[in-house]
Order: sequence, then C-alpha cells, then structure tokens
Amino acid sequence: MKLAILSRNATLYSTQRLVEAARGRGHSVRVLDPLRCYLRIAPDGFQMHYRGRELADYDAVIPRIGASVTFYGTAVLRQFEMMGSYTPNSSDAILRARDKLRAHQLLAKAGIGLPATVFGDNPDDIADLLRMLGPPPHVIKLNEGTQGNGVILAERLSASRSVIEAFSGLYANFLVQEFIGEAKGADLRCFVVGGKVVAAMRRKAKKGEFRSNLHRGGSASAVSLSQDETETAVRAAKAMGLNVAGVDLIRSRRGPLVLEVNSSPGLEGIEGATGLDVAGAIIDYVAYRVKRQKAPR
Ligand SMILES: Nc1ncnc2c1ncn2[C@@H]1O[C@H](COP(=O)(O)OP(=O)(O)OP(=O)(O)O)[C@@H](O)[C@H]1O
Ligand SMILES: [Mg+2]
Repeated sequence: MKLAILSRNATLYSTQRLVEAARGRGHSVRVLDPLRCYLRIAPDGFQMHYRGRELADYDAVIPRIGASVTFYGTAVLRQFEMMGSYTPNSSDAILRARDKLRAHQLLAKAGIGLPATVFGDNPDDIADLLRMLGPPPHVIKLNEGTQGNGVILAERLSASRSVIEAFSGLYANFLVQEFIGEAKGADLRCFVVGGKVVAAMRRKAKKGEFRSNLHRGGSASAVSLSQDETETAVRAAKAMGLNVAGVDLIRSRRGPLVLEVNSSPGLEGIEGATGLDVAGAIIDYVAYRVKRQKAPR
C-alpha cells in the first residue's frame, strides 16, 4: 500500500518505528508534516499540496497528531478522508478523544467504569459541586494538562476548594474526580489495535508520588490483563471510535476504571516495556483494512 504518516517530526521514536515496520513489510511510506500540507476545498474535488507538489492516491494515512496541532492536523486528516484514504483513527474520533469532558461523557454513556467526575464553571457553585462528588481526597485535573502536569491530589476539602478557586481565577478548565487510593499509584496502559489489546504495561509511580506518568519518574513493566480489563480497554476504544488507542486504566475495588483514551499513543514506552512489535501490529491492521476496502464486493 501507499502510506502516509502524519507527524511533525520524522525522528520521533514512534514515527521511525512505523516507517520501519511499513518498509519492512514492503509498503511505500512517507512522513508528512501536517502543518506543511495545504488544502483546496471545492465542490468539484479536494486537492492537497506539500511543498509545492501534489499529494494524491494515498491508500492510507496514520495520524500522529500532537495536542498542540489538533485543529490543523485534524483538518488535514479530514481532507485525506475526503480524498478516499483510509485512516484507523478518523478526524472526528481524534477530536472526540481530545476533549476530556466529552470523552468522559461518552465513556460513561457506554457504561464503562470511570472515577466519579464533576466539573463546573462558576466559583459560587464549588461547594455544591464538591458535595455532588463526595468526600475527599479529590483529584483535580487541568483540562490542558499532560504527562501528569496539572494533576493535583487534594486530601482535604479545604485544599480542594482553594485549588479550584485558584484555577477558576486563572480561567483554566478543570475537572474533579474521586481519588482511587487503592490503585496505589499504578495504572495500566492498554494498547488497542483493531479491537484487540496488542500490548499492555503497568506504570508505577515513584515513591511518594500518586501519578504514575513516566515523565514524573514512574517505571513501566509488562503486565497481563484480566479479562475484565481487556474488555474494558476494547470497549473504551470502541466508544471513542478509535482503532488505534492507548487506554489508561486504574485498578479499583469496583473493577477497572478508565482514566483516558489516547488517540496518538506513544510506542517507545510500550515496546520497551513489553518487547512487542506494536508498530508492526498497527501497520498490519491498516494494510488489512486497506485490502478489504479495495476488494470487490
Ligand atoms: N482519580 C484518580 N485516582 C487515583 N489516581 C489517579 C486518578 N487520576 C489520575 N491518577 C494518577 O495520576 C496520573 C496522571 O493522571 P492523568 O493520566 O489523568 O493525567 P495526565 O497523564 O496528565 O494527562 P493525560 O493522560 O490526559 O495526558 C495517572 O496516570 C494516575 O496514576
Ligand atoms: Mg495520563
């Protein structure tokens, strides 16, 4: 197949691994910086150029769109979709997953376990908002945060209130969750491709820290999932409409709870921890879907 990888940086581990896996399987592959793709939109057809040259006839595109380029990146991806290229993650699905509040609403609607979550806007409503959530400890999360930045544990109600007041004063969007203490600073990253978990790792926070992010000093190791955990990860990816997803779960007394569904999950951590060829699994899945799409019915 003729494949494009939408990525801002061809030297990133994930991008390189996808290129390598595609080449190794005999596919033609090119990395395109989404910010250098420009589009013509007209009722008689869609056109796209890259550094002065036409982009056409891509069988498939694998989006690796970072949070900072969501808007432009999904517009470029949508153009590929409209020009007939297959993508495992559609522009709509990526936008759905990027909006944390919307993602929580969709997951809850699908009956998938989540930590109880509240959000509000007006400072006058904070006291009642926290009553809706239940007693502390609470986890307060900035909507724009990643890698554990802007995730705060408030052990007392007074701490929750002052953190929320500070965030509201800065006009920052945030949500507040019940704290799942029994997870003991660990979470599970389940890598879902085409409705199957192809690899999973457990991330454990360093001592004295409740956030398991590797960027916060956490450590990762391969893990085998229970059937319930596997099913939850697969259902969460499906609820978001993602065929490639990193589903983060925490183990709670009432079963696995989803923290996040990531639409551009990194490959370095998961391949390093498990030794599995996750890039190859993604390429094989995309090639299978392209073949099926092209087959005469
Ligand atoms: N409700 C919770 N109860 C217990 N621990 C939590 C809870 N929410 C988050 N954590 C811990 O904090 C870590 C960071 O939280 P989270 O994954 O929600 O934010 P992030 O990594 O900054 O953002 P994102 O994953 O959306 O990029 C989690 O990996 C988990 O270990
Ligand atoms: Mg996270």
